[in-house]
Amino acid sequence: MMEASFGLTGQTALVTGAGRGIGAAMAEALAAAGADIVLWGRSESSLRETQETCSSLGREVSTVIGDLSDPEEAARTARELGDQRPVDILVNNAGMISRAPALEVAYSDWQRVVATNLDSAFVLSQAVGAGMVERRRGSIINTASLLSFQGGINVASYTASKHALAGLTKALANEWAQYGVTVNAIAPGYIATDNTSALRADPDREEAIRARIPAGRWGTPEDLVGAVVFLAGPSARYITGHTLVVDGGWMAR
Ligand SMILES: NC(=O)c1ccc[n+]([C@@H]2O[C@H](COP(=O)([O-])OP(=O)(O)OC[C@H]3O[C@@H](n4cnc5c(N)ncnc54)[C@H](OP(=O)(O)O)[C@@H]3O)[C@@H](O)[C@H]2O)c1
Repeated sequence: MMEASFGLTGQTALVTGAGRGIGAAMAEALAAAGADIVLWGRSESSLRETQETCSSLGREVSTVIGDLSDPEEAARTARELGDQRPVDILVNNAGMISRAPALEVAYSDWQRVVATNLDSAFVLSQAVGAGMVERRRGSIINTASLLSFQGGINVASYTASKHALAGLTKALANEWAQYGVTVNAIAPGYIATDNTSALRADPDREEAIRARIPAGRWGTPEDLVGAVVFLAGPSARYITGHTLVVDGGWMAR
């Protein structure tokens, strides 16, 4: 009998935005599943806690420092990393949100959000994906959003970037499936992290959002870890181009 396998021993996972929130939980879960971890953050100090947790699980842990709002610089850094060691799992998780009515959005602000959420995912996938294609194995997992499907309120740049990220997921999946490389996305629902602190600080918005979630509560970063370990591992090798919604039922409503 064939059994499902979720172990990642012997693999190396690169996780961006790994210092806090969803990325930290994902990195720790991938380490717990056996992967060695490369944490990508903007400073060593921001990664320290995740690094300690992953190390305490007995994994090899290293860090890469880079600002993903500068995709050209990020691509160079990722290529250097890819030259030094094979990366088997890439989690493009880092992201930012900027909340303002569309008529008030400065173009520079729009560009920063799109560069961070979309362009960086493309250039890192290119830089790390080259080695995956060559080795005929690898998995890329992008952190999408419910705003990969819906419009949102006062978040035009974020919504555009996350819709495009879901499209990029399919486009790369189509190209690289033939090389044994899967490209999927996880679309978290409303998760209690710094990304949503403004929503949770507004009692009316907080209540309205919670009331619409069939599960009756906000998600936590830990709610995402099963999905990332599954999509990274051998049991998901025939799943590609998919955006897996993890939202307590929001999209089903
Ligand atoms: N929370 C939610 O409800 C929710 C829902 C759907 C999707 N998401 C997505 O989930 C991902 C993680 O967000 P989160 O909720 O965990 O929020 P978070 O706590 O705000 O974490 C964001 C992460 O992205 C990193 N980051 C932001 N800008 C960066 C840049 N220019 N260069 C490098 N790293 C950068 C941050 O690094 P620093 O620590 O250095 O700032 C941080 O690690 C994002 O892509 C977000 O869009 C979140």
